[in-house]
Amino acid sequence: MPIKTVKDVDVTSKRVLLRVDFNVPMEKSGGGIRDDTRIRVCLPTIRYLLEHRAKIICCSHLGRPKGKIDETLRMAPVAKRLSELLGQPVKSLKECVGQEVEKTVSAMNDGDIVLLENLRFYPGEEKNDSEFARGLAKLAHVFVNDAFGASHRAHASVVGVTNYLPSVAGFLMEKEVTSLGGLLEKPEKPFAAVIGGAKVSDKLDVLDNIVPSVDVLIIGGGMSATFLKSQGNRVGKSVVEDDKIQYVRDLSEQAKSHDVRLLLPADVVVSPTLDGTSETRTVSVKDIPDGWLIADIGPQTIADYTGAIKGCKTVFWNGPMGVFEVSQFAMGTREVASAISKLDAVKVVGGGSTVEAVTKLGVADQMTHVSTGGGATLEFISGKQLPGVKALAENKLEAPAIS
Ligand code: 3PG
Repeated sequence: MPIKTVKDVDVTSKRVLLRVDFNVPMEKSGGGIRDDTRIRVCLPTIRYLLEHRAKIICCSHLGRPKGKIDETLRMAPVAKRLSELLGQPVKSLKECVGQEVEKTVSAMNDGDIVLLENLRFYPGEEKNDSEFARGLAKLAHVFVNDAFGASHRAHASVVGVTNYLPSVAGFLMEKEVTSLGGLLEKPEKPFAAVIGGAKVSDKLDVLDNIVPSVDVLIIGGGMSATFLKSQGNRVGKSVVEDDKIQYVRDLSEQAKSHDVRLLLPADVVVSPTLDGTSETRTVSVKDIPDGWLIADIGPQTIADYTGAIKGCKTVFWNGPMGVFEVSQFAMGTREVASAISKLDAVKVVGGGSTVEAVTKLGVADQMTHVSTGGGATLEFISGKQLPGVKALAENKLEAPAIS
């Protein structure tokens, strides 16, 4: 379903309620921002609105305060960082709705920008309460949703407000929907999916939805233990989801019936612990010692995997190949990242720790798209319609026309 974007409405001198996902990781102490990527990715939309002299009322959640004020989750440090990035003041408000906020926003000048307090300090946000949504909508003429990362949540600031305001997507939302949607709708072939991470159970819907469209399915990370055990291998003390063994066998059958090459590790790096303080060995998956854990894919597997993606025209990657945070176990993720980054293909990376990996390894800018969502990206790739995206697609309220 096509969605309108910020370019389809007149925002000049209008008050714009801009939902962003500024749910940034914060430092454990000191209240600083550990990684400002989620702020930076919204800058194109914010700059566009500023160029059009809109009055921007930004809003976001931060953490999970569950409807109560949490002093450690105030938005003020985020407003400060945004202000530094934009080179102009960003006023941090102490509330999201009510008379004080209304007074402040009605006094805004063209090109001003404010950031509301953490939306999740209000119980009405997560309940998608209509009164809270109306309170937010009252502040603006137009709603712009650039919070792809929160669009799987049917919350008041994501869905509720669209009942009261003409609603369009920001540029980040548009890019996410187009890039991820392209994988599902018309991927150029051959298409490889590289799926890793700790647990099969986190990826069931993604695997189910993607198997019919891929040519190659590559499995890595902790979840490969369940696949290997399903084929009769002993996997030491690696975590196995025994209740998913049958699922994994069915998936292998499904892959076969769709002519999909399903690749599992042939060799692995193992260690008695995953913190990098113990001895490590590279062994065939047939020889994993009792009491040892799979920590990374081995060199033969790296060669198999990088060979299999060579020549692919579309690659979707979600989930690291090993415990990449520990240098001894980072090789698999690093080599796969490097191989994907060099492809002449549509290369889409999604999911929290994979994004962290490509950023840490310095190859993020060689990818076609690095999705900013965690849960939202996985739900999208699972084929589910995200409530926030659906609300934009179905919004019929008349927006101010472009003059
Ligand atoms: C995320 O970090 O994935 C989004 O900001 C959504 O956060 P949530 O899982 O707390 O809803």
